[in-house]
Amino acid sequence: MKSLLDPFGRSIDYVRLSVTDRCDLRCDYCMPRGFSDFEVPEHWLSFAEIERVIGAFARLGVSRIRLTGGEPLVRKNIPSLARRLRALPGVEDLSLSTNATRLDKHAAALKAAGVSRINVSLDSLRAERFKAITQGKLEKVLRGLMAGKQAGFAPIKINMVVMGGVNDDEVEDMVEFCLQHDFTLRFIETMPMGATGRAASARYVDFQTVRARLEKRFELIPGVMPGGGPARYVQVAGTALRIGFITPISQHFCASCNRVRLAVDGTLYLCLGQDDKVELRPLLRQGISDGELEQALVAAIANKPERHEFTEKPEQVVRFMSLTGG
Ligand code: 5AD
Ligand code: SF4
Repeated sequence: MKSLLDPFGRSIDYVRLSVTDRCDLRCDYCMPRGFSDFEVPEHWLSFAEIERVIGAFARLGVSRIRLTGGEPLVRKNIPSLARRLRALPGVEDLSLSTNATRLDKHAAALKAAGVSRINVSLDSLRAERFKAITQGKLEKVLRGLMAGKQAGFAPIKINMVVMGGVNDDEVEDMVEFCLQHDFTLRFIETMPMGATGRAASARYVDFQTVRARLEKRFELIPGVMPGGGPARYVQVAGTALRIGFITPISQHFCASCNRVRLAVDGTLYLCLGQDDKVELRPLLRQGISDGELEQALVAAIANKPERHEFTEKPEQVVRFMSLTGG
C-alpha cells in the first residue's frame, strides 16, 4: 500500500475538496456580509480535472475524500461528481460538509452516489439568532437535516462554532437536540481565518469552559469515535451521544495532521493555517501527464508545513474559510 509521507513523518491519506468558493449563507466568522468576489467559472476545475487530481492522489495512497465549499451543494451536479470520485480505485470513503440549506433536495441522490457521512454546520437552534449569525433561514437547515437522516446518513455530525455572548448559552440545548435526533455533536473553536475569522476570534471560548458547563447537566464519560479525526470525544453516560471538541487553538493537533486541501481553482493548500500552496490548474491545462501529476503532488507534500500559527501569528492567513471549507 502506497503512502504519501510528509517531512514530519505524517501520512497524508485525506483530501478536502472544495468544489466551490460560493455559499448561500454568510456566517459572520467566515465571509464578510456583502462579499461577492468569487472565483470565475473559467477557473473552476471541471469534474474531469477534479477526477484526475483525486485519481492521482488515490494512486499515491489517499483513501478518504471530503466534499466541501463554500457550500458544496451550490455547485450543480454534485451527486454526479460524488459518483465519479467514489468509483476511483483507492477511494474508500467519501463524505460531505454542508450547511444543509439544500440538503432536502439532494440527500437521496448523494446517498445513492456513495457519500456515506455528512457534517452539518449549525450554530444556533433559535431562528432569529441563526439569521443574525448566518443571514439564512434555520427552517431550511432543519428540513435539510431531517432529509439527511431520512436518507440514511449515519453518523450525521453537527458542527457548532461556539462564540462567547453569541451562542455559548446554547451548548446544552444543542446536546438535547442531538440526543433527540441521534446526531453526533462537535464544538469547534473559532479560528482567525481571514479578517472575519479574526474579528470573531475576539469571542473565542475555550473548551475547558464549555466542558465544565456541560458537566453541570450531563455526566460525561470518555468516548471514542472511529475515524473521528482531530476531535476529542466524550460520551453522555447512558446514551449513544458522542460529543467532540475540536480545539485548533487551545490544543492544536497538527502533529497528527493527515490532510491537504484542494480549492475550486486548483490551488492545493498544504495547511489550513499557512499560505503554502501549489497551483495545479496551470499544470492540468498545460497537459501534464498522470505520472508528472503524481510527481507534482509528492513534491507538494514534501513542503507541508509543520503546524499552523494561529496563536503566534493570527494575521497570517488572509483567505477566508470559505475558500477551503475548514
Ligand atoms: N473558525 C472556526 N470554524 C469556522 N468555520 C468557518 N469559519 C470558521 C472559523 N473562522 C466552520 C464552519 C463549518 C466548518 C466548515 O468550518 O462553521 O462548520
Ligand atoms: Fe457558508 Fe460555511 Fe462559510 Fe457559513 S461557514 S458562510 S455556511 S461556507
